[in-house]
Amino acid sequence: MTVQFPPDNPERRAKRAHIKSFGCQMNVHDAERMADLLAREGYEATENADDADLVILNTCHIREKAAEKVYSEIGRLRVRKEERAAQGKETLIAVAGCVAQAEGGEIIRRAPTVDLVVGPQSYHRLPDLLKDARGRKTIDTDFPDEDKFDHLPLPSKKRLMARGPSAFLTVQEGCDKFCSFCVVPFTRGAEVSRPVEAVLAEANSMAEAGVKEIMLLGQNVNAYHGVAPDGSVWSLAGLLESLSEIDGLARLRYATSHPRDMDEALILAHRDLPKLMPYLHLPVQAGSDRILRAMNRKHKAADYLRIIERVRSLRPDIAITSDFIVGFPGETDADFEDTMRIVREVGFATAYSFKYSARPGTKAAEAGDAVPEAVKTARLHALQALLLEQQNAFNAATIGRTVPVLFEKPGRHAGQVAGKSPYLQAVHVDIPKGDEISAWLGRIADVRITELRSNSLHGEIVSPVGEADRGGWAA
Ligand code: 5AD
Ligand code: SF4
Repeated sequence: MTVQFPPDNPERRAKRAHIKSFGCQMNVHDAERMADLLAREGYEATENADDADLVILNTCHIREKAAEKVYSEIGRLRVRKEERAAQGKETLIAVAGCVAQAEGGEIIRRAPTVDLVVGPQSYHRLPDLLKDARGRKTIDTDFPDEDKFDHLPLPSKKRLMARGPSAFLTVQEGCDKFCSFCVVPFTRGAEVSRPVEAVLAEANSMAEAGVKEIMLLGQNVNAYHGVAPDGSVWSLAGLLESLSEIDGLARLRYATSHPRDMDEALILAHRDLPKLMPYLHLPVQAGSDRILRAMNRKHKAADYLRIIERVRSLRPDIAITSDFIVGFPGETDADFEDTMRIVREVGFATAYSFKYSARPGTKAAEAGDAVPEAVKTARLHALQALLLEQQNAFNAATIGRTVPVLFEKPGRHAGQVAGKSPYLQAVHVDIPKGDEISAWLGRIADVRITELRSNSLHGEIVSPVGEADRGGWAA
């Protein structure tokens, strides 16, 4: 005989977990994988941190501002944890991600309300770590020998479908480049590529679940060198070629790349693989060779321009995006002008730009010659104004064209569906009257772009659902 518990009996209520992610796409995806693992442990996901038995802050250490957010968030959670304790409810607070890796036990010393600190390479140990954390403060910031991906469950078909038709797949982690401003080689460790077979198996299971687009993730993804079952080593170009043969997958993307690893095979893949979307995120960081050298970027401005020219000669419509840092130590007005010049020369579809932020443990943090805050601010404004102008021009150039759009979610208004163009632009369309939104999700249709409204393109469907599944301009 089974005993029925009243639904609000805390003994029977599923435990609830809230994961809040900061920072990059890798963190967003890590949060998904942690949620898969916690679901197996009987945790239900909740959007509401106040209602959670377990809160995981999946943190970012890339800039000081991002790292400091964690402590204000913990302060808020501490109050809630005390309120819940007064009601006899336990709340575990875990700090994961790159701040966890960088600061380790220091987090618990500064914020004793935190129960568990877990670095990005130890997520597969979460179930055990949570058990330990019940009794005592627990810290795991190892770079373990075992591959965490072998221990993380493959997401179920149901969970994959719930995430939508565009999915992340981690193929590479860590970085060996040691740009002098960057904490990634310290927080994510050395560059490691996942084996080819594991990546293909995961991609196949995604395609079977209905995933249409895969974004391959890695801190330095184009340095991918995965071992195949026959012992050969595959580059990212080889991996993309093999992934393009998977039926059902319509689109492939990858991020983030380093100019030094942009080899000819990968450039040619942009010409030869129709499923590889015409989109390249290639951070340059600065336009001055003096600053690039101080940043230990291992490339000059001219190298970057040469790569862009070559890619465009093979795939003229490709959207180029980038990252920039202004106010790196010692950056003069002339250096900054070089950054503005490279931006004008390339013409970016969109770009991210940041003020330099000194990070503990990095080479650049030891350098003097800091740029005054007001100068950094002025430079950032000037750069962002130029980048915004280019972004608007890029989007405006799409108006009147027909592009295949992958529909991913309901749009902002009723009867609307939202998707992405091959160039990763957000596109909204009205679906035919009487159609269900759900019937359009996960489909690709040709859309004629009609206008640009606050940050989003709008268009009309011109092909029946499912007819257009290629990337690139259809007209
Ligand atoms: N300060 C400012 N921006 C940084 N980035 C990385 N480290 C720093 C730093 N210390 C930026 C780079 C990188 C992006 C993810 O974040 O532009 O490409
Ligand atoms: Fe950081 Fe990217 Fe440089 Fe690696 S290549 S150190 S992740 S900025």
